[in-house]
Amino acid sequence: MKTQVIKINSKNPEIKKIQQAANIIKNGGLVAFPTETVYGLGADVFNKEALKKIFSAKGRPFDDPLIVHIAKKQDLNLLTKNVPEKAEKLIKKFWPGPLTIILNKSKNVPMLATANLDTIAIRMPENIIALKLIEESDTPIAAPSANSFSKPSPTLAKHVFHDLNKKIPLILNGGETEIGLESTIIDLTEKCPIILRPGKISQKEIEKLIGPVKIISKQSEKIKAPGMKYKHYSPNAKVILVMANQNKIKEIVIEERLYGKKVAVIGLNYHIADQSYKAKDLNDLGRNLFKKFREFDKQKIDTIIVEGVKEKDLGAAIMNRVKKAATQIIN
Ligand code: TXA
Ligand code: MG
Repeated sequence: MKTQVIKINSKNPEIKKIQQAANIIKNGGLVAFPTETVYGLGADVFNKEALKKIFSAKGRPFDDPLIVHIAKKQDLNLLTKNVPEKAEKLIKKFWPGPLTIILNKSKNVPMLATANLDTIAIRMPENIIALKLIEESDTPIAAPSANSFSKPSPTLAKHVFHDLNKKIPLILNGGETEIGLESTIIDLTEKCPIILRPGKISQKEIEKLIGPVKIISKQSEKIKAPGMKYKHYSPNAKVILVMANQNKIKEIVIEERLYGKKVAVIGLNYHIADQSYKAKDLNDLGRNLFKKFREFDKQKIDTIIVEGVKEKDLGAAIMNRVKKAATQIIN
């Protein structure tokens, strides 16, 4: 299959291009498209054959459920039985935006979309291309991140092309994604809501609105968030997370190079290495983390050292991704 990449205006998407993509979705095909978080790989949530294609294009295990994307609030009724009050509050404040809520699913959603769970993950993205595509497709769109299984999520169309070339018919290239980390996921089916994946929308912001929430523990993550148990976000290079001070990073750079390794460092401070990315602030670090992982792979870097940040607000989301990618954490 030839993969076509179409450049599309991110502020005022050309309707012809949206329609071309929507026709693919309507006919049971896959389209990769930008959201404000990362690129997604979309299919009609009510078409089982189309859903299967998502799993096979990504090499994704079937027990890892998908997030369903909607463009208008009424579409919640197609996917879920009831919308509890806490959900209403969160939706009002954060949609469209990088927040995925988990609710009890309605019967008509194929079990393939939710990996046999009785619950369903739903979000309304803030990207205008994504919203128009969903509208024009006339169906909610199930979409995981558009990377190969276990690889870093794509923040540019070329990342999608690298992973899925010849496996999908179309990529809508709407430029770089703004946030660069996947949405916050909150499970609202329990008495006390649980954050299953931290993201740009923080625990603090959520608690301000709906009261106390829990953060998923490492043990229950395996059961509650089926996809999280897998290896994630991993570049080919070995990733080392260093929480300790700056001198420790210097030491590791020297040591790795002694072993003949090419070393890169990512963080809020500048470090001398073969490659170094100094982020301006946490937003910049979040936006560029996965992109740098991919760039450093291209440059045949052997070891990527990430300088730890405080696990607060966006820092919690960044550290969550780095910890999953890391083979070694130095405190
Ligand atoms: O920002 C995002 O959320 C991006 C963009 C494309 O919207 N999507 C994304 O999807 O990150 P994905 O498939 O890469 O991650 C979704 C994760 C799954 O790995 C799974 O753990 C969790 O969401 N999930 C989905 N449905 C769930 C459910 N019913 N219960 C618990 N966890 C669920
Ligand atoms: Mg993913």
